[in-house]
Amino acid sequence: MSKVTVVGAGNVGATCANVLVTTQVADEVVLLDIKEGVSEGKAMDIMQTANILGLETRLTGVTNDYEKTAGSDVVVITSGIPRKPGMTREELIGVNAGIVKSVTDNVLKHSPNAVIVCVSNPMDTMTYLIHKTSGLPKNRIIGMGGALDSARFKYFLSIALGANPKEVEGIVIGGHGDTTMIPLTRYAAYRGVPASDFISAENLAAVAADTMVGGATLTKLLGTSAWYAPGAAAAQVVAAVLHDEKKLISCSALLDGEYGESDLCIGVPCILGKEGIEKIVEFDLNEEEKALFHKSAEAVHKTNAALASAL
Ligand code: LAC
Repeated sequence: MSKVTVVGAGNVGATCANVLVTTQVADEVVLLDIKEGVSEGKAMDIMQTANILGLETRLTGVTNDYEKTAGSDVVVITSGIPRKPGMTREELIGVNAGIVKSVTDNVLKHSPNAVIVCVSNPMDTMTYLIHKTSGLPKNRIIGMGGALDSARFKYFLSIALGANPKEVEGIVIGGHGDTTMIPLTRYAAYRGVPASDFISAENLAAVAADTMVGGATLTKLLGTSAWYAPGAAAAQVVAAVLHDEKKLISCSALLDGEYGESDLCIGVPCILGKEGIEKIVEFDLNEEEKALFHKSAEAVHKTNAALASAL
């Protein structure tokens, strides 16, 4: 029996639960929220969908009852407030740090062996906060930002190339911020052939630029932060862990010398399997990419430094 808990039944959490059910990733999913009735209502709605689609994953909604989450293999934390148009993810730290800390404490009381997937923003800093306050081994805490940013990169790439999205390769590393993420255009490929063979350097740069502000563009259109791709990206990370897929997905991981950085969580290519982050893969970055990565790390360190006063 596999069990997943999603904490936070807002748009992202509920979408994640919906994808977990519709793709039948786990036997059992618990959706928890502090707001009375919201998780129960969304779970019921999703389970009625499951009935229509003939799916067997069971989803239960609970109000703040962490006992019901006991024995989860993976826990996704989406709690906290989303950004509004014009806000950066970093501005959310003051409100979200305390929430993420208390959710993590509650989750681990009942699922001490779980792998934690952090979605809450600012995502790299919240992932780091979970490391600092939980004392869990570093492989068991995964920040999902790179999975989402890479999906956005591949989406914009497939449009620029006029290609089937499944045949496009792309990965984004660095921080999950509008100015800190690094779409690795040199590694972008169509069927293994560099994307730069098919589109101009200007087009490729535009794809990277669209990717970096991908979340901000949606926030402006929607009036709040996006949820379909963020929820699905979190579910993709859950599936890779639960099914021991050994997939290479860009995730926010605690670095200890990899890529020349330490003591922060930031997006890097990770092999995900049942142990969580089973390996950090070190790409052979060129000087320009290395410089971008260090600049991104510097910005993430700076946001992390605000944690002390936020808690
Ligand atoms: C985004 C939020 C979830 O990028 O960070 O849409």
